[in-house]
Amino acid sequence: MAQQEPEELLEMSSDTWDILEEHNLQPLWEIEDDMGNALEDPEAEIWKWEDMQEAIDAIERDVPISELPPGFQRRVAVPINTAHAISNSIYVGVQTVSPGETAPSHRHGANALRFTIDGHEDMKTVVAGEEFPMKDNDLITTPQWEWHDHVNESDETAAWLDVLDLPLVLDSLNAKNTFEYHELERQPVTKSQGYWASQYGRGRAQEDLQGDDIPGPFDGIREPTPPYRFQWDNMVESLHQRSDNNDPNPHDGYSLAYVNPATGEPPLFPTMSFRAQLMQEETDPHFHNMTEVFFVIEGEGATHVGDKALEWGKWDTFIVPPDEIHHHEPDGEATLLAMTDRPVYEAFNLYAEATPSS
Ligand SMILES: [Fe+2]
Ligand SMILES: [Fe+2]
Repeated sequence: MAQQEPEELLEMSSDTWDILEEHNLQPLWEIEDDMGNALEDPEAEIWKWEDMQEAIDAIERDVPISELPPGFQRRVAVPINTAHAISNSIYVGVQTVSPGETAPSHRHGANALRFTIDGHEDMKTVVAGEEFPMKDNDLITTPQWEWHDHVNESDETAAWLDVLDLPLVLDSLNAKNTFEYHELERQPVTKSQGYWASQYGRGRAQEDLQGDDIPGPFDGIREPTPPYRFQWDNMVESLHQRSDNNDPNPHDGYSLAYVNPATGEPPLFPTMSFRAQLMQEETDPHFHNMTEVFFVIEGEGATHVGDKALEWGKWDTFIVPPDEIHHHEPDGEATLLAMTDRPVYEAFNLYAEATPSS
């Protein structure tokens, strides 16, 4: 007897369809192929700094921060690769604040950080009562629910990379009620510069390390990330120490993860991890289900993603989408900031990474 075609097996009477429709039900086999397609897949793509600069200069000429509509009230050019961001988990944007301008104080449930592109000692991001100077390549955290505003008291426009988990919080979790304005444009500065480093830097107060407060192996991800400024001078010196004394990681070169200062361990945020990587030679190919977004701090080269070559130079931003085989080919020495959503995959036991078999 000939085998029946699957379509014949699945045929249902119009009465059955009517019953399902009346009760807002669907058979699984009718919808399973559409699952996983609600969000657009990101492409391997690069945003060149010269193009970003043309865009941020143009919107700075046209739009003062004070005239922005209600919302985040930030003057930002956002690379778009999925619905509203560069990826489905990580958002990046280049923000500018002109001399004398203030980006007003607000707070939100999304985790954020600033990576300074063109900074100044008198460009301050104010987080949780402390003014943090934004010098070139400094990374400054803005953890969940901490008030933050940006104040430019220098005579030069400042620019930096904003990195947030907005697509995850707003588009995937649909967590809309997680934003609040401060009653003042600028939050009161209640702490001296260096306060947060004194709480979470190389020394910890003895009374903070008693009994249940001692970070344990399962406590890391629940320990809130404090406001913190990672000064680039320290990071780049440690990267060069590694290149002088250690073997490189085959896929990322000499790399250092930014740690949560509260635990001394990565990830920096529960949803995103960050590392600085120094590369001096071509890396080996690999692939993984996390997304990697890169910002070029110094140097030139190419990242090969599938059969696409992303040619990069200083201050370019590019994305390696999930599951794409990739490797880096620096032209001499190059330094990158890598941003990933790996903590989300690890939290759900979903993280996977492999090297190609041939
Ligand atoms: Fe913000
Ligand atoms: Fe990778």
